Amino acid sequence: MEVVELAELFLAEIVERRDFGVATELVFRVPPTFRPSPGQFVHLRCGDGGRILRRPYTVFSYGKETASVLVREAGSGSAWLRERRAGDLLDVLGPLGRGFETEDKTDSVMIAGGAGIAPFPLLSRVIRERGGGTVILWGMEYGEEFGDLPDLLAVETELRVATRDGSRGCEGTVLDLAREEGLTEDVAIYACGPRAMLLALVDSLDEAGRSSLQVSMEERMACGLGACRGCAVPEAGGSGYLTACRDGPVFRGEELDWERMRKSI
Ligand SMILES: Cc1cc2nc3c(=O)[nH]c(=O)nc-3n(C[C@H](O)[C@H](O)[C@H](O)COP(=O)(O)OP(=O)(O)OC[C@H]3O[C@@H](n4cnc5c(N)ncnc54)[C@H](O)[C@@H]3O)c2cc1C
Ligand code: FES
Repeated sequence: MEVVELAELFLAEIVERRDFGVATELVFRVPPTFRPSPGQFVHLRCGDGGRILRRPYTVFSYGKETASVLVREAGSGSAWLRERRAGDLLDVLGPLGRGFETEDKTDSVMIAGGAGIAPFPLLSRVIRERGGGTVILWGMEYGEEFGDLPDLLAVETELRVATRDGSRGCEGTVLDLAREEGLTEDVAIYACGPRAMLLALVDSLDEAGRSSLQVSMEERMACGLGACRGCAVPEAGGSGYLTACRDGPVFRGEELDWERMRKSI
């Protein structure tokens, strides 16, 4: 896969914010050269106080003049982002990293846990534009967790939801949904979510399934540029490591050493 080297550093005006339950979408202006591929991320400065490190956010959408991120609150940086309003400026570095490769396979399944939904509206748009079929399976805690975002996404793409408490869609986890879907080697599988979800998904797949799998890894990041090695993930076939920010965040299932990953949870 190819690493796109066109990251830019720019100040972006926020033109809109939309709240979706526990998450907020921030829509901001981008230069005409900002052309992310699905699964790439932007590194955002979160205030000018004690938070020196930028925070990584997947590009949720982009058009001619704007792009957006979907921010779920996890700590002080994301809380700061969720307080931003139209007219505020965002300090953006990106797009960064390696995104999803679209496969020749006709059908694809996207498996999202919580805010791991972020890359999939864009990816499913690209796949649909190429004439491919796609379904998004989204696991969340409860039906209202992401407000009316599931309804909005379902207008454009086939979407199935699993909730832990059964208040929307199927009761259970997104992997229960995936089992119902029947993942086979003929289907391209794309996944993004907590590491435990990814490990359980990998366990449920045979070798052929793993070779059809691409995962986006949410590792803690510092530089976001491949320099500090703070986001190292174990590489398959030895004792080496890959960087999530530059070699990833998207990897093929077979590129990673899932057993070493399991030990570092
Ligand atoms: C490639 C990538 C894409 C992401 N896309 C999204 C997205 O679209 N929407 C979304 O809500 N979240 C996303 N995340 C997770 C998001 O970056 C973290 O929730 C956020 O950095 C937390 O920062 P904080 O200051 O609020 O929390 P703190 O816990 O205060 O953060 C402290 C430090 O840990 C890092 N950190 C904490 N949690 C994570 C995490 N889960 N992943 C990576 N770094 C973390 C922060 O960058 C910071 O350096 C993504 C993570 C990665 C790696
Ligand atoms: S965050 Fe520095 S190498 Fe990935």
